[in-house]
Amino acid sequence: MAQKIILTGDRPTGKLHVGHYVGSLKRRVELQNSGEYDKIFIMIADAQALTDNADNPAKVRSNIMEVALDYLSVGIDPAKSDIFIQSYVTELTELTFYYMNLVTVSRLQRNPTVKSEIQMRNFETSIPVGFFCYPISQAADITAFHATTVPVGEDQMPMLEQTKEIVHKFNAVYGETLTDPQILLPENKACLRLPGTDGKAKMSKSLGNCIYLSEPEADVKKKIMSMYTDPNHIRIEDPGNLEGNTVFTYLDAFCNDGHFAEYLPEYSCLQELKDHYTRGGLGDVKVKKFLNNVMQEELSPIRARRKEYENRIGDVYDILKKGSETAKHEAEKTLAEVKHAMKIDYFDTPEFLEEQVEKFK
Ligand code: TRP
Repeated sequence: MAQKIILTGDRPTGKLHVGHYVGSLKRRVELQNSGEYDKIFIMIADAQALTDNADNPAKVRSNIMEVALDYLSVGIDPAKSDIFIQSYVTELTELTFYYMNLVTVSRLQRNPTVKSEIQMRNFETSIPVGFFCYPISQAADITAFHATTVPVGEDQMPMLEQTKEIVHKFNAVYGETLTDPQILLPENKACLRLPGTDGKAKMSKSLGNCIYLSEPEADVKKKIMSMYTDPNHIRIEDPGNLEGNTVFTYLDAFCNDGHFAEYLPEYSCLQELKDHYTRGGLGDVKVKKFLNNVMQEELSPIRARRKEYENRIGDVYDILKKGSETAKHEAEKTLAEVKHAMKIDYFDTPEFLEEQVEKFK
């Protein structure tokens, strides 16, 4: 049976937030603990982070440990998953260089994620080449580990499509070498793209609309209690609207029937609460308090585990180092396969010399 292998990761440009959690981290931990996967690699994508932060290496450096702590605190277990740092695995850069020959400029220009990121960063007139090529480096990240499964958020879909194209092209040109990966998106629709606490589609540090996994309980509560709801729901008796109502989107993402029994026994499930809200007679504060209970229940063990690891930074360093060495070893093997397929493995087999001797006889 072919092995089942997971590769996924995040850019270390900030602490991870609840959007990362419901969009991908929680699933990774479930997959890890399912015992169905032979190997799991979780990558801190520092080289990719530098493609749009070239002038701010301190930011990337300072977030390596933050992201590692976030991973460990949500339950990524270093005994089951290798957490590694992208730049340590230099083989990834070499793979990227070879894959560049299989992708056209116009194809990269059509990548919707690249397109919107170029706009967001005002790169229109001066796109750094490294940034423009990061979808290719992402194909290297995935294929270097022969990943079969890539659990990520919805925004990564175009990257996976690009990777699959590179895999197909490579295998067609050089012979069956690379593994075709599958994307694994969250099953719950609310988790696909969790909005910011202000109701804006994009969570961002500068907007101050994220709830971070490492945030203290009181700060989380404050953000929940001031969350965006239905601006026309003024008096409790008014019928409320669920559409674009952030509190309910978060409930969709976080709550289950058990939470009602525990914190709001007047209702048996989320649908009943929603019905009451749309009928009128249910105030925002009550719903927000419930959401706070639900989210604190999920976040408090994460915070506690983070504190434990914060007191053992030396151990976290060792986890990263060991994970990076394992990942490098794995990528070395794939790079050798790739170079063999591309017939550029001159010194690794006796064939090159034999051919040349024959030729010059
Ligand atoms: N692009 C991802 C992010 O922004 C990080 C990443 C880099 C990644 N390489 C990857 C994710 C390969 C999955 C697979 O978070």
